[in-house]
Amino acid sequence: MCGISCILTLEHSSHTLKERGHLPPGVNCASVNGDEASAKLAKELDASLELIVHRGPDSRGQWISPDNRVALGHVRLAINDLSPDGAQPFHDASDTVHAVVNGELYDHERIRSELLEKTDYKFKGRSDCEIVIALYKYYGLNFLHKLRGEFALVLYDSRTQLFIAARDRYGIKPLFWTIQEGRLLVAAEAKAFLPLGWKPEWDVKSLLDAGWNHDERTLFKGVSKSFGHIEQRQYWDIEYPDKRTLDPRSEAEMIEGVRSRMLDAIRLRLRADVPVGVYLSGGIDSSVIAGMVTHLVKERGERMGNDKETERVCCFSVAFDEDSGFDESKIANRTADFLGVKYYKKHMNESELAARFEDATYHCEIQNPDLNYVGKYALSEVPEKLGFKVVLTGEGADENFGGYPLYLPDYLREPDLAWPANPLSEAMREKQLAKTEEAAKQYYASVGADASNRGPSIPRRMLNDISTVSSMTAFQLTVFADWTQRYGSCDPQLTIANNADGRVRAKIVNQWHPLHSAQYVWSKGHLANIFLTCLGDRTEMAHSIEARTPFLDHHLTEYVNGLPPSVKIRYDPGSDTFVEKWVLREASKPFITKELYERKKHPYSAPTTYPHGGPLHKLLDGLITRANVEDLGFVAWEKVSGLVPKAFEEGDADLQGKAMAMRFAFTVAQWIVLSKRFGIAKAVPPEMAC
Ligand SMILES: *[C@@H]1O[C@H](CO)[C@@H](O)[C@H](O)[C@H]1NC(C)=O
Ligand SMILES: *[C@@H]1O[C@H](CO)[C@@H](O)[C@H](O)[C@H]1NC(C)=O
Repeated sequence: MCGISCILTLEHSSHTLKERGHLPPGVNCASVNGDEASAKLAKELDASLELIVHRGPDSRGQWISPDNRVALGHVRLAINDLSPDGAQPFHDASDTVHAVVNGELYDHERIRSELLEKTDYKFKGRSDCEIVIALYKYYGLNFLHKLRGEFALVLYDSRTQLFIAARDRYGIKPLFWTIQEGRLLVAAEAKAFLPLGWKPEWDVKSLLDAGWNHDERTLFKGVSKSFGHIEQRQYWDIEYPDKRTLDPRSEAEMIEGVRSRMLDAIRLRLRADVPVGVYLSGGIDSSVIAGMVTHLVKERGERMGNDKETERVCCFSVAFDEDSGFDESKIANRTADFLGVKYYKKHMNESELAARFEDATYHCEIQNPDLNYVGKYALSEVPEKLGFKVVLTGEGADENFGGYPLYLPDYLREPDLAWPANPLSEAMREKQLAKTEEAAKQYYASVGADASNRGPSIPRRMLNDISTVSSMTAFQLTVFADWTQRYGSCDPQLTIANNADGRVRAKIVNQWHPLHSAQYVWSKGHLANIFLTCLGDRTEMAHSIEARTPFLDHHLTEYVNGLPPSVKIRYDPGSDTFVEKWVLREASKPFITKELYERKKHPYSAPTTYPHGGPLHKLLDGLITRANVEDLGFVAWEKVSGLVPKAFEEGDADLQGKAMAMRFAFTVAQWIVLSKRFGIAKAVPPEMAC
């Protein structure tokens, strides 16, 4: 788990110099001023690594190719094999293949022994990431299929001059790229480009149509999360069965199938040469992880990280003020008591949130309409202080098991033909569809979002009418300057629909159940670009904490994706309600408290209203000034000058308007923080073609 920064010169520099007439034909620039160029490159790369040192405070390494064309840099958070043998970049014995790897590759011991039977590869140490080059040398590009876990990597094969950058299946680990002055730059965070000649500019169109959330774009012009323009090949995708095919398996078989794969995914994620802990909230996802970890450690004698004492499973959570209505630490405390584990909590009040607002925003590199990310940022301070480097977290359970209430209308949109034992009759299904769609509308209105985008539309038609795409785009910002209309009509729903590959859209329309289609688009958007970033990697790595996500283990998700919709969401005729994540709940039953087994979904959330005159009011007031807003260039001052007064208005007259103003104010304030910390140029209108 680490950070990487790499440079690939796209044109040979000797070629460029020749054209400029500096060198006679046939003279290689590397031989003339190679040492100087190499030293300059090394210094640049070091400055770049310095900006992501939080991702890897333990050591630092770089490799520069003899022709100065390729530079690979790495900062290391030592988790497996703490010896210098685990230091990166890695090289093969013939010094032709070089790689930097950020992440965790599970089951690497088995892969390593398999490789040792097939090849005579000389491993240097025990680091999980060392298998990358060995796999590549045996399987070629198919090495990616063998990787299990979360990772971002760059590999350079100097024999074939092949430069590969790749990312894990769900995008848990970050990888950004940009081209600057004929050089391809690839790094774990955009800030690492700053010392490499990058002059950040806003990608206003990406802000307008939510490209940062739903496709390869980011907030920054010319900085992408995927390699569409170089050459991008997919090696895996989320897949679901044909909705018309009956599933012959029994419930008991499916529950056991989920349970055994969860235990396996968790067991593999306990391995480390440093202490490992668990993030515990009041929800079922993190609780079952804590429960299964405790079971594995106490009953099956598994080691947890480098801890030799089996009773010391440690859990961490964040607590908010009790009267906020958002505090779940009491439930987490009861879970911890039930499991007999150690429990540490971090208490967050308003001033604690305000104090971290700017740093947390800098680390995220995107905006958030609430403060959940600040809570997560603070949470990762707890294990850091206690000397932990690795935690297990529950991200991905809601995506794969159908945990979000907003999925309900899409579950009900069509009958579940894979599961005819469904207690829901056709007449009942239609009735419940109307009821849950209305509830979704009300919910979005109540939290200050726009519910007016829920009717028929081209994007809805492209995606088999799922309403999850409307829910995902309920927060439409109305703060943009008038000139931004030059980018045309920008519809985030269309961004989502267009971003799905045409082959996927064909499956969505003809083959997948709408619940599964909803899970697909959600996983590609909010999961990948908000939850795994601001509530995941960025706010964890800011404090050098590696979080592992067993629910995104692809052996587990492939199994769960293959289950019928009605074992994910289950109608209970007795109470006339739906049980979300039904099969997860059943699989978890032996490992969690009765309280959690019976509890309805309460997503982790920070409070959303704050008092007049408090620390957050003062902070936002100081940030959202006319001068700061005008420096952004793409925001109209007259559309945002009233936000802070409205958000912190006293009295409960217009709660929805207040909630909306608060979300907009958070967003604009975060843009201002990014603009200042990154030195982003003021956005200007695009040139009009005449
Ligand atoms: C839970 O809270 C009670 C009461 O404050 C405390 O005595 C107990 O130690 C807590 N349990 C854990 C595991 O921290
Ligand atoms: C918020 O929490 C911090 C740290 O626990 C404490 O020092 C401070 O007094 C608290 N502020 C308020 C207003 O409760």
